[in-house]
Amino acid sequence: MSSGDEQAKPPTEAELADMDRDQLVKLGTKLDGVEIVHYPEPWPVKGTKAEKRAERTIALWFALSAIAGLGFVVSLIWWPWQYEPPNHEDSHFWYSLYTPMLGITLGVSVLALAIGVLLYTKKFVPNEVAVQERGDGGSKEIDKATIVAQLADSGNRSTIARRSMIKRTAGLGAGALGLATVALPVASFIKNPWKDSETKDSLWHTGWQPQYPGEVVYLRRNTGHLGHEPEEPSLVRPEDLDAGAMETVFPFRESERGDHEALAKALKRSDNPVMLIRLRPADAARVVKRKGQEDFNFGDYYAYTKICSHVGCPTSLYEQRTNRILCPCHQSQFDALHYAKPVFGPATRALAQLPITVNEEGYFVARSDFIEPIGPGFWERKS
Ligand code: FES
Repeated sequence: MSSGDEQAKPPTEAELADMDRDQLVKLGTKLDGVEIVHYPEPWPVKGTKAEKRAERTIALWFALSAIAGLGFVVSLIWWPWQYEPPNHEDSHFWYSLYTPMLGITLGVSVLALAIGVLLYTKKFVPNEVAVQERGDGGSKEIDKATIVAQLADSGNRSTIARRSMIKRTAGLGAGALGLATVALPVASFIKNPWKDSETKDSLWHTGWQPQYPGEVVYLRRNTGHLGHEPEEPSLVRPEDLDAGAMETVFPFRESERGDHEALAKALKRSDNPVMLIRLRPADAARVVKRKGQEDFNFGDYYAYTKICSHVGCPTSLYEQRTNRILCPCHQSQFDALHYAKPVFGPATRALAQLPITVNEEGYFVARSDFIEPIGPGFWERKS
């Protein structure tokens, strides 16, 4: 009987329900005009050394995936991630490995799982050679039933049911990788924004927060001597900037003088960088100030956080001609003449403005910390 005859007389529903998997597989191929030319068992002789070796190799890859996935979770939570200056040689070494550890462990976990799956498919899933006519229209009930049978048959022939070592290690690898992918978003909730909310180390404050009432926090430039700062910090005076210029500044307090570690920490702290902009006089005359922040500037000088309000990249570019501050990550633009409100791109909030003045010695100083959290939003943030 030809396959064309079988297609002309499909079985009734009752006949279909009575068929076993083998019959359904054959029926499926005939109905689809498929001719299986070659359908070898992957391991016709059971229990050979080669078969066991293949099984062990695959299990090893899955086990490696599991170990690396768990390594990622452990690194994410317990690896020393807080900044250590270069002169703390031991602790700086371990701190500097934090990001590589996350990348390596997660990468190895994904890669090992993929290699395990590929090897399993190659070694144990039957590779039949079949020829099929191309058909039109959607799938019929018969096609659906027979394709399920074919898939089940394929799974059965791949002998996965009796390969408990592979099943266990694959489950372990997939589970560890799943744990790692869940740990990533969950980790972002671990830092409690309310913890120490009065100190400069909370999400509500930056390094510009005075550590005691009346502490003077100067604006200081980075002279490129990280960890080996000169004795005299490079503080900023109004006459240091030409009209239309921008300078990146960091906080400096007297208690840090000569303390290379504290000075380096202030440069490294991610929420510290501030853009000090001196507007050209004609532009300064057109400035629109934010309500409640009318006195945050000093003359033509405006200080905005350098941390983008989109997802926190450094907004490092200031275009003098248009007075726009540009974030290179996703091209948000902020209008420096309009309290740095976003005028283009995905950012939706203005860059936070640092209130500044000049003290009796002629140096720029911060009048306080930012009055709102800087950078990207978080749930508890109101501004
Ligand atoms: S982080 Fe600045 S535009 Fe996205």
